[in-house]
Amino acid sequence: MRELGPVVWLSRQRVYALPRYTECKAVLRDDVTFASGHGVALNPVTNRMSRGTTLNSDGTDHERRRKLLAHRLTPKALRSMSDTVESKARTVVEAAVTRRHVDGVRDLAMALPMAVVPDLVGWPEDGREHLLAWAGATFDSLGPLNRQWLRTTPAAISMLRFSRRVVRDRSVLAGSMGEDVLRAADAGTLPQSECSALMIDYLAPSLDTTISAISSALHLFATHPGQWDMLRQDPALVPNALNEVVRLESPLRAFSRKAVADADVGGVRLPRGSRVLVVYASANRDEREWDDPDTFDITRDVNRHLGFGYGVHGCAGQGLARLESQAILRELVARVKRIELTGKPTWAINNIIHRYHQLPLELVPA
Ligand code: HEM
Repeated sequence: MRELGPVVWLSRQRVYALPRYTECKAVLRDDVTFASGHGVALNPVTNRMSRGTTLNSDGTDHERRRKLLAHRLTPKALRSMSDTVESKARTVVEAAVTRRHVDGVRDLAMALPMAVVPDLVGWPEDGREHLLAWAGATFDSLGPLNRQWLRTTPAAISMLRFSRRVVRDRSVLAGSMGEDVLRAADAGTLPQSECSALMIDYLAPSLDTTISAISSALHLFATHPGQWDMLRQDPALVPNALNEVVRLESPLRAFSRKAVADADVGGVRLPRGSRVLVVYASANRDEREWDDPDTFDITRDVNRHLGFGYGVHGCAGQGLARLESQAILRELVARVKRIELTGKPTWAINNIIHRYHQLPLELVPA
């Protein structure tokens, strides 16, 4: 697609895809022309269903929704959370190293997000067994109306229903983000009707994405032992290494925007009303932007990648995702000499998320 040009018409999805870095960044920057408020999914049903979320909003509505919860994820708030996250990461890694032969997805990548995010959002204990399936389905529902969409959308609707019940019964955990949402509704600063969408807002995007980043990191280090040795010698490289993982294996492949005025993208005229697909994953491997884009190099100057998005909708939870993923890597670096692949990994099927389903590994202790 990158070879075809700066804008590629996908006739089946009826969308203008942007496979190159420059155009993706330009569209993300111009949030006035390229709106999110008509939805960022590749189908009109989900775009209607996800009204009221931060992701699916523009201008002052977007600002208001983002502000309501963002104070929970500021650098200061994250610092106060870091001891808990680090100690949970230590427990997860110690157990995995003791077991030595592990599934990198289940035993390392899933364990920490599942132990951190539901408590932060305040999701009641009784709905947690469905969370992973529901959150994955929410991403599936953002794809085109394909078979995978049909198969999974009932689960995404179940999550919405459960969230409505949580709001109605006020069953959120005390001191959580969910409680902030209910308080704002009580105080009249948030319409009651928006509460359930906001509950899902921070829960749905926070599991598969981080699970993808951690498991891709494990796979990359298992297949690039020289990079692992380098990280062990200089653990200060951990933050950059994580950015390189998110660039190379972009957990979230693409979201769309709607052009609300005629626009020019890369010299191509797009009529008002066009749907435009921002392919973060392709931008992150664009040879016009990156030297040796397919090479995993933890010392690369990588901060400008688009794996967390860019502009006003840039990932609101990236601080937390970084905290979790880096904590796992630091604990591993301190304890593991080599990560070895012991079988063929399998991929999870999802319309939007790129992640392993199973990743058989041996953790060779230091
Ligand atoms: C490695 C992990 C993650 C990746 C790669 C990722 C990626 C992204 C991307 C690409 C966007 C931009 C969407 C757009 O352009 O429309 C985004 C937005 C968002 N992310 Fe993440 N994310 C991650 C983790 C998280 C976590 C842990 C949370 C919650 C705690 C979260 C919450 C959100 C929210 C609420 C938005 C919408 C922001 C807005 O519309 O203003 N994400 N994420």
